[in-house]
Amino acid sequence: MGYNTLNGEKAIKSVRKAVIPAAGLGTRMLPIARAIPKEMLPIVDKPAMAYLVDEAVKSGITDILIITGRNKNAIEDYFDYSPEYEAAFERRGKPEKIDEMRESAAPGGARIYFLRQRETKGLGHAILCAENFVGDEPFAVLYGDDVIVSETEPSTLQLINSYNKFGKTVCGVHRVPREQLKKYCSLKAEPIEGSENEYFVDDMVEKPQREEDMFSDLSILGRVILTPDIFDILRNTAPGAGNEIQLTDAIAAQARRDGVYAIEYEGTRFDIGSKNGFLIANTVMGCRNPETADEYKTFLKEFVKTL
Ligand code: UTP
Repeated sequence: MGYNTLNGEKAIKSVRKAVIPAAGLGTRMLPIARAIPKEMLPIVDKPAMAYLVDEAVKSGITDILIITGRNKNAIEDYFDYSPEYEAAFERRGKPEKIDEMRESAAPGGARIYFLRQRETKGLGHAILCAENFVGDEPFAVLYGDDVIVSETEPSTLQLINSYNKFGKTVCGVHRVPREQLKKYCSLKAEPIEGSENEYFVDDMVEKPQREEDMFSDLSILGRVILTPDIFDILRNTAPGAGNEIQLTDAIAAQARRDGVYAIEYEGTRFDIGSKNGFLIANTVMGCRNPETADEYKTFLKEFVKTL
């Protein structure tokens, strides 16, 4: 077990575990979500889930629990060996391809575990399923349908660095246009002196409908580091918006009790759980991928002229 020093004084446990909730029904991605988990939809040639696992590993995470459900077997298959492909590459004398495939199935040697959430009772309930895996440690949560591409450090690592400073729950936030806040959450946040992108948070509301609940345009988007006391709170959290157990409601209780922190992370977020998010992710990443960029950009330049 590793420890870090908080403000040069108290020792805090390091973040080495991550939970990726991926059991949701994905109703916004119907009809495809009936047969393919939205978390397995491709961005160019890799499923969204692979981007998340890569990000966790690059952030120093060694153990990853993916919360799955019925109709989500494709996730487990992806992170398994592929004996048929391996035999084919063996026959073709391409051993480097076998190594490549094994590395993408277990990036950086990370240990990947799976657990089923039997009923889709909400993101908060999915996280509660991870209690035994997490134990008494801080842990990262990467929302299964939010792919984040950063230019500097992976977004999870940016949050971990912040956690190492404050030793409390840290929410990854971005600014959301006010008219869209109703679909997200709103944080009551005070900038931290001497920091350009970190905040102290003492309240938040999930899907605020009333003007007075819209504390700010800062909303949690896709990543949080949670302290393990969240499990006791989640156990006592009643279903909220959409009649689901909301993770935001539990973090709000932590915020009102002790305060939590937020960091406006650097990175572009693609909501792969929405049709436009999926299309935009493929357009942006298709223009960046060395295998596709030239031809795809040539096509796009001609295509936009016809719009
Ligand atoms: P979302 O609210 O975006 O997922 O949850 P959803 O419920 O599948 O979305 P729609 O509205 O029906 O399209 C964020 C993440 O939490 C997971 C989802 O799989 C997604 O990756 N989740 C959500 C769970 O694991 N369990 C749940 O009960 C709900």
